[in-house]
Amino acid sequence: MDLIERYSDDYITGTRMKKLSQKVILVTGGSKGIGLGCVLTCLKYGARVGILSLESELAAAEVAKAGFSTKTDIFMAECDVRAPSDFQCAFEQALTHFGKIDGLINNAGWHPPALEIEDISVEDFENLVRLNLTSSFLGCKLAVPHLKKTKGAIVNMSSEAGLIGQPAAAAYASTKAGQLGLTKALALDLAPHGVRVNAVCPAGVMTPLMKDWAATEYDPEAALKMVDEWHPIGRMATPGEMGEVCAFLLSSEASFITGQTICPDGGATLGYRR
Ligand SMILES: NC(=O)c1ccc[n+]([C@@H]2O[C@H](COP(=O)([O-])OP(=O)(O)OC[C@H]3O[C@@H](n4cnc5c(N)ncnc54)[C@H](O)[C@@H]3O)[C@@H](O)[C@H]2O)c1
Repeated sequence: MDLIERYSDDYITGTRMKKLSQKVILVTGGSKGIGLGCVLTCLKYGARVGILSLESELAAAEVAKAGFSTKTDIFMAECDVRAPSDFQCAFEQALTHFGKIDGLINNAGWHPPALEIEDISVEDFENLVRLNLTSSFLGCKLAVPHLKKTKGAIVNMSSEAGLIGQPAAAAYASTKAGQLGLTKALALDLAPHGVRVNAVCPAGVMTPLMKDWAATEYDPEAALKMVDEWHPIGRMATPGEMGEVCAFLLSSEASFITGQTICPDGGATLGYRR
């Protein structure tokens, strides 16, 4: 591969293009939090974005506020990723709308309140697997035939909890570790087809989910400050910072990165909950 060929994605007649120009990216759970951060960052880098989410309409106001068109830049398909037929229907609507897919971010998920294993029912465990892990599996399964055509990429939004564990989070950590296994196995299967698959493991990110958790604590402000202090950088991440990592992984800048677990964690995993 010579230099011109290598950079041909990024340059057209000598003009530097945005790194996701002409790409179509689908984001599950793109209505708020990290998913919304991914949506806005992919838009910033020139992609058109399909938002497959509950409360998908929440994203519209943010997309407009950021100066993008809700008519041409995004497509919103309301769906519950726990329900395979619902998810498939939303996926197919987005595919019909855009005509192709270059990238998928499996982001929809939830962190339940802290519980010891004695207090987690099998039903609750299985429901969380369905939301956090089975939905990622299904997202990949739906996208792969189309990504093979575009030589696209997948990002699975895991967590540092899947990598190094987390107290009182046996179910959550299991689902997030499962996403890492899915990522690595698919990376091997799909590399010969030019499709890359990576996982992102954030530590704390300031999102509605994080705020909901803090609200259950005696002193929510002190709880958020404590999470900030788990990170050597001294604060949680923003959703946009996670979006930057995902946009990079979906772009040709990451053309030799597959099967990897990327930890944009402000150093948290170096000294977890010091
Ligand atoms: N916030 C953090 O600190 C953090 C850290 C590590 C990993 N994560 C992971 O990042 C992802 C997003 O977390 P967040 O903090 O942005 O959460 P959030 O609750 O702020 O947003 C979750 C998004 O997923 C959507 N969603 C939830 N259930 C859905 C369903 N059944 N079907 C379709 N959409 C659904 C919501 O509508 C929303 O858009 C999750 O997978 C989470 O495990 C978050």
